[in-house]
Amino acid sequence: MKPYRTHLFVCQGKNCSAKGSEELYEMIKERVKSDGPKDVKVSKSGCLSVCKETDPKGEFCPALVVYPEGVWYRNVTKKDVDEIYENVLKKGETVERLVHYKLPAKG
Ligand code: FES
Repeated sequence: MKPYRTHLFVCQGKNCSAKGSEELYEMIKERVKSDGPKDVKVSKSGCLSVCKETDPKGEFCPALVVYPEGVWYRNVTKKDVDEIYENVLKKGETVERLVHYKLPAKG
């Protein structure tokens, strides 16, 4: 097994699923598969707790998280897939306008 540089999880919890996160997952996965870097992995996850802790009605859904950066994104839509792909998955950058939470820098 080769380790991944970047691992993106697309929430498939109840609130995110109700806002189209399955289709979002399929779009990102397809983009990586057809065009993408081999050291990037896209997976489904259960509820990322964005909705449980800060957003009980799911208004911040759909949510994503990217490791090892430790950046959670909220309100990601199909229109954001290209930007997520180009900036987060290919360049390792952050799309600030969609950030929900970032782990504090170490050190
Ligand atoms: S269902 Fe996606 S963050 Fe809770």
